[in-house]
Amino acid sequence: MSSTEERVAIVTGASQGLGYAIAAKLVQEGKKVAFVSLGLDSVKAEFERETGEGRVIFCEMDVSDNAAIARCVEDVTRSWGRIDILVNNAGIRTETAIEEIGPEEWNRIMAVNLGGTFFFSQAVVPVMKEQKWGRIINMSSFGGQFGPLTSSAAYSASKAGQIALAKVFARTLAEYGITVNAIAPAAIRTPEMDKIPADALAGMVRTIPVGRVGEAAEVAELVSYLVSDYGGFVTGATMDINGGRLMR
Ligand SMILES: NC(=O)c1ccc[n+]([C@@H]2O[C@H](COP(=O)([O-])OP(=O)(O)OC[C@H]3O[C@@H](n4cnc5c(N)ncnc54)[C@H](O)[C@@H]3O)[C@@H](O)[C@H]2O)c1
Repeated sequence: MSSTEERVAIVTGASQGLGYAIAAKLVQEGKKVAFVSLGLDSVKAEFERETGEGRVIFCEMDVSDNAAIARCVEDVTRSWGRIDILVNNAGIRTETAIEEIGPEEWNRIMAVNLGGTFFFSQAVVPVMKEQKWGRIINMSSFGGQFGPLTSSAAYSASKAGQIALAKVFARTLAEYGITVNAIAPAAIRTPEMDKIPADALAGMVRTIPVGRVGEAAEVAELVSYLVSDYGGFVTGATMDINGGRLMR
């Protein structure tokens, strides 16, 4: 590999929000990017030119579907011959109270947030090992560190699990030039946040020492660093990006 510009990335949950910002940033850096998500129509239209140039592909799929993961990984390796970067960002969040979480909700959250992260990582590891280079990022959450009252126990447990997976993978794969890290954001602006009433949003901002919400572009910059050659000495870490809401 002569230059980082030729790197191949897979970003899950890339149709909107953080995943979209991360995937778009990696495309802008000249990387080849597979956008993985449900509901990719608007993104497909936006990246039509890059698709035509063979620099973007789409895996429209559910990350809890192992057969779809295998097809996507096969598609990427057939198209570009390698996989350098995996960003496990796809996720769903609920706010259901402890007494009300049923097995269906529990299993769905675990299958998407934690199972999707584990099985996608498992599928790319052989390729990265062979290359002796790889970068895996698990998009965890403040919820997995702090146990906030605003997210369900299932969500917080799945996000804590992603941090544990990053450590296990990091320790196991360090000798192959593969780094694995978790990112723990809180209060990053997304379309969902725009629906929160102004007074509720102001109340939330009062809990953030820097006095504002974060931007998806700020998370994308952090990912850009972690997946670069310069990120090679950071592994098994959980990077907080939360405006100081949690300091540890
Ligand atoms: N925005 C924040 O402040 C914040 C804070 C903490 C953690 N996070 C984490 O960051 C990640 C992205 O959050 P966001 O705010 O951008 O969310 P979002 O809801 O805006 O986007 C989620 C993305 O995941 C995709 N997705 C959902 N279920 C999927 C499935 N089963 N298969 C494939 N794709 C699926 C959606 O299509 C979408 O592209 C999540 O894992 C979330 O837990 C976000």
